[in-house]
Amino acid sequence: MAVRPIETDVTKTSIKKLPENLTGVISTEDLHVYYGDFEAIKGVSLEFPKNQITALIGPSGSAKSTYLRSLNRMNDEIKGAKVTGKILYKGRDINASDVDVYSVRKQIGMVFQRPNPFSKSIYENIAFALKRHGIKDKNVLDEAVETSLKQAALWDQVKDRLHESAIGMSGGQQQRLCIARAIALKPDVLLLDEPASALDPISTAQVEETLLELKENYSIVIVPHNMQQASRISDYTAFFHLGNVLEYDETRTVFTRPAIQATEDYVSGHYG
Ligand SMILES: Nc1ncnc2c1ncn2[C@@H]1O[C@H](COP(=O)(O)OP(=O)(O)OP(=O)(O)O)[C@@H](O)[C@H]1O
Ligand SMILES: [Mg+2]
Repeated sequence: MAVRPIETDVTKTSIKKLPENLTGVISTEDLHVYYGDFEAIKGVSLEFPKNQITALIGPSGSAKSTYLRSLNRMNDEIKGAKVTGKILYKGRDINASDVDVYSVRKQIGMVFQRPNPFSKSIYENIAFALKRHGIKDKNVLDEAVETSLKQAALWDQVKDRLHESAIGMSGGQQQRLCIARAIALKPDVLLLDEPASALDPISTAQVEETLLELKENYSIVIVPHNMQQASRISDYTAFFHLGNVLEYDETRTVFTRPAIQATEDYVSGHYG
């Protein structure tokens, strides 16, 4: 297969607006992210659709994780990181001075690349965050644990061992527990950064199935593990390259009839 350098003329972009039948849930306007003097994101404007799965694809270092982290202000935690531009969630800028970062993260939850359960029981992994948000009633907690484990397609496997340590679970189960923990807080948007990268094919398939089911109730933005995963599960795809988005459209268009040569090169593997 011929490998040639990717087309890097960033003046050629194709960013589609959402069609009228879809509602936007979260958007960025001229978003820039800097790490010290380094400009990692160079003015990205995108709008993500409600109750759909959007994939962020692109080569390593193209700033997919940086962009995803800015959507719930996780970049606040990185020393030296600076964000400019707007991130609008339900019409409000989440970086406005009167916005509480914890309420942003409650509504816009995140699941990371490596499963990171607490070294507590399966039950407590989910109940802990709820308790921190003031929920104390045991019946309410029991119900929330059961519902979120069911939504994460994990309930049947763990219902008889809820009080055993989460650390004894398989990697795929741990990642679904992290998804359950995120959705227990009833977020509106779920951000996932390569949630299946540490998983075997069977666990990956289970996580993908879970995401497709969650789409009914959540809006999902995911950095997929690979392009096959993006094409399997996402409705919309944004192609990132060196901190710019070169193309944004329906996934089937991006993968079969991309508007931009660089996208075509990337999705067909003609990229070096
Ligand atoms: N904490 C940080 N401090 C300084 N530079 C960073 C930091 N995090 C990321 N970068 C830089 O920002 C750019 C984008 O990185 P990012 O991790 O967002 O890319 P990515 O597309 O997620 O890559 P990958 O596919 O490898 O996960 C890279 O050049 C990276 O070196
Ligand atoms: Mg990344």
